[in-house]
Amino acid sequence: MNSISRLQFLQQTSLTGLSLFTASLESLAAENYQNKLRVAVIGCGSVSNRYLPQLKSSALIEVVSVCDIKYERAQKQAKEFNVPNHYPHISKLLAGVPFDMMVTLTDMQVHGDLNKEALLAGKHVWSEKPLANTYAEGKALLDLSKQKGLKLWGAPAVVNSPQFSFMSEAIQSGKLGRIAAAHGQYGHTGPTWSAFFYEKGGGSMPDLGVYNMSTLTGLLGPARYVMAMTNIVNPERTVDDKGKIKVAAEDNAHILMEHDKNVISHVMCGFNYFDPHGHDAAGQTLHTIQIFGDAGNMRLIGYDWEPKGVALETSWKEPATIQQTDAKGYEWQEGARVVGESIIKKQDPKIQVEHALHVLEVMEAARKSSSTGAKIKLNSSFRWPVV
Ligand SMILES: NC(=O)c1ccc[n+]([C@@H]2O[C@H](COP(=O)([O-])OP(=O)(O)OC[C@H]3O[C@@H](n4cnc5c(N)ncnc54)[C@H](O)[C@@H]3O)[C@@H](O)[C@H]2O)c1
Repeated sequence: MNSISRLQFLQQTSLTGLSLFTASLESLAAENYQNKLRVAVIGCGSVSNRYLPQLKSSALIEVVSVCDIKYERAQKQAKEFNVPNHYPHISKLLAGVPFDMMVTLTDMQVHGDLNKEALLAGKHVWSEKPLANTYAEGKALLDLSKQKGLKLWGAPAVVNSPQFSFMSEAIQSGKLGRIAAAHGQYGHTGPTWSAFFYEKGGGSMPDLGVYNMSTLTGLLGPARYVMAMTNIVNPERTVDDKGKIKVAAEDNAHILMEHDKNVISHVMCGFNYFDPHGHDAAGQTLHTIQIFGDAGNMRLIGYDWEPKGVALETSWKEPATIQQTDAKGYEWQEGARVVGESIIKKQDPKIQVEHALHVLEVMEAARKSSSTGAKIKLNSSFRWPVV
């Protein structure tokens, strides 16, 4: 048996004590957001007005900084929402007051670059859609986040609504019988404030169709094949930030997706759809998502990002019933708050980055299908059923 002297014993125990002390300091540093997650918002335009109150409403989140290359916007939002720090550039934001998660609300075209910079700087990321410009760029971001032990997520948050859960459970429990077909539609006459929606890398698919694609793949499972037609109906627009511009990204799109078990779904989206409810569309009470099986059908009332209920029809005799009218607190702009809170609570949220990436692959395939006429096979997938 090994025997050690009292001196050796004291040396060893004090070393153990020291290393325990150091380890606990390290874990304290690593989990210094045990109680509150420090968040920085980049992009202080239109949608920040919806995100900032959401983030500020959480007891588990502290919004420490805002940033915008139009610096006066960062200053204005900092004042309006009582955020202590504001910056004119991501490099200054990352070098400034420490934070844990970046929320990206900028022009779509720069999301990928900004998200990468944040991940490289050790920040978790929630990104408005799309989280990158291409599937390959998005996948590289996911790999980077994993390599660095960080979280990455992408909007939208449609899977969080109780109406989505209701529809998913109805499908999964066989209430509609064998599922065959589905349809989603979303459009209005287009944003009027920023040109990026109409420039290369923008378009009605990443801005609007993305919601229906997330809902339909979320309900029916990953798409295996995509065929699409996309084009430009209105070649010229006048927008607040750049005046008269040429439209370069599709403003009219029809996308067919084939899911497992030969289920086919269809999404139509565009920036030339008259809708008296406008961009906000909150008053929309018509259905925008339909799912058909051989024993029942469902229609989602309102938009999938702001659903009002589900009309369910499973009887040859009785009329449809309206179900799940209660939003239970769900709001479309809740994504960053919910995933931020999930970090603190150490829980897995319903939203999966793999789902956002899959939808990015769908959009890329739609563009390719439209330009080549081909049916495009997809490779990506995500955990399904979501609920
Ligand atoms: N407006 C909405 O209601 C809404 C709703 C849901 C999602 N979205 C999404 O949110 C994102 C932003 O849309 P928006 O309507 O708020 O646009 P916006 O033009 O109103 O705001 C974008 C802001 O990002 C800033 N910005 C651009 N590049 C930047 C950079 N490199 N660094 C820092 N700031 C930068 C711009 O100066 C601008 O202030 C888009 O992805 C859009 O699809 C918008």
